[in-house]
Amino acid sequence: METTRRQDAPIAADPAVTTPAASTSQQRPPSERDFSRSSRLPGFYELPRSERLRSVQAFSGLNEAALASLGNLGTLNGELLEVFIENGLGSFSLPLGVATNFYINGRDVLVPMAVEETSVLAAASHGAKLARAGGGFTAVSTEPVMTGQIQLLLQDASVDFDAILKAHKERLINYANRGQDRLVARGGGACDLDWRYVPEIGSLVLHLYVNTCDAMGANIVNTMCERVSTLMPELLPVAIGLRILTNLNDRRLTDVTCFVPASALDTREFDGKEVVERIVMAYQFAAHDVYRATTNNKGIMNGIDPVLIATGNDWRAVEAGAHAYACRSGRYMPLAVWEATPSGDLVGRLAVPMAVGVVGGVTQLHPAAQAAMSLLGSPDARALAGIVASVGLAQNLSALRALASEGIQRGHMSLHKSNLDLLNRQGAART
Ligand code: MEV
Repeated sequence: METTRRQDAPIAADPAVTTPAASTSQQRPPSERDFSRSSRLPGFYELPRSERLRSVQAFSGLNEAALASLGNLGTLNGELLEVFIENGLGSFSLPLGVATNFYINGRDVLVPMAVEETSVLAAASHGAKLARAGGGFTAVSTEPVMTGQIQLLLQDASVDFDAILKAHKERLINYANRGQDRLVARGGGACDLDWRYVPEIGSLVLHLYVNTCDAMGANIVNTMCERVSTLMPELLPVAIGLRILTNLNDRRLTDVTCFVPASALDTREFDGKEVVERIVMAYQFAAHDVYRATTNNKGIMNGIDPVLIATGNDWRAVEAGAHAYACRSGRYMPLAVWEATPSGDLVGRLAVPMAVGVVGGVTQLHPAAQAAMSLLGSPDARALAGIVASVGLAQNLSALRALASEGIQRGHMSLHKSNLDLLNRQGAART
């Protein structure tokens, strides 16, 4: 089997690991005119969707049933598909459900989650039930301040850029806000600017801080960065480099805590206080071992990503920010901290960058995302961030509780069994 061969082979000997130069020198791609074999499809994006599907079929030989699966629009329609992506064929369905038991900032919430992993919703609901016994989750989010980067390639390192930038700081911030009247009227807009010199790349890197209110804000920030950069050559001897937001938005943080009374963790096999100790030990394992920390944080993202997907948010942005934030001390650490109180109960805390929006883009256009937002009570961006982070903490609690007591597989496999049964039945039907 391919998988076994790959796992056994040393990495350097893996034929799949080739340098770009090696791979380009091997074979020429099929000619553009060989339409059925070439992935070079000029004008593909302009074709009606039905013709795109037919070209894909001509390329791949997919049967009609497979083509219908690719072309199924689900809750979307053709117009939305064209608005969301280029080269669209259809929409990909993920299971969507609600996590129960969440009590966040004094409010009961049913949390929509879109995810394919069997045990995730059950685990989130269980973690929420444990936290609920101690009063639920308390979530606090900072102002929604995103950070944009402007890279300036300094052509004369002797220039006193500090003095010049300080003198023009207010002007630059005001210039960033031009054309953003509605955002500024809502209390948002560019609010701060700082910079640092990175000698290794001869670059002065400006950070423009922007309160994006209820938007995730990537477009606002990128537009402002490009705008501000146009003023730079008249102030400093620089060439313009990149202008783009950072996903390490460490001024847009959400902090969520929960308290779990030891009695809520009693099981047939273990006393609750013992479970607390074991959960704390499991956290410490992650705090001292990057391999464990990675899996621990994957478990947290098991809770975070599905809520982001269900609400039409950019889960890749939050993923990138979360993992970079987990490294902020120079060592990759677990995102949530678990401690025992003097009375032997458990407290947990998760702090994570959370760039989520409730206006603009997919959130407002996708029918299922809109319904998910309504189900959540139409929170603003900061409240949504608190909900998302609470699910991350609940997920971590549930995973650590299971790992530190009976093990993860008992619950996981009982849920996974129906999945396997279906696979087996389908396999039997095919043979
Ligand atoms: C599985 O998707 C997630 C866990 O591995 C998380 C963890 O180990 O903490 C169970």
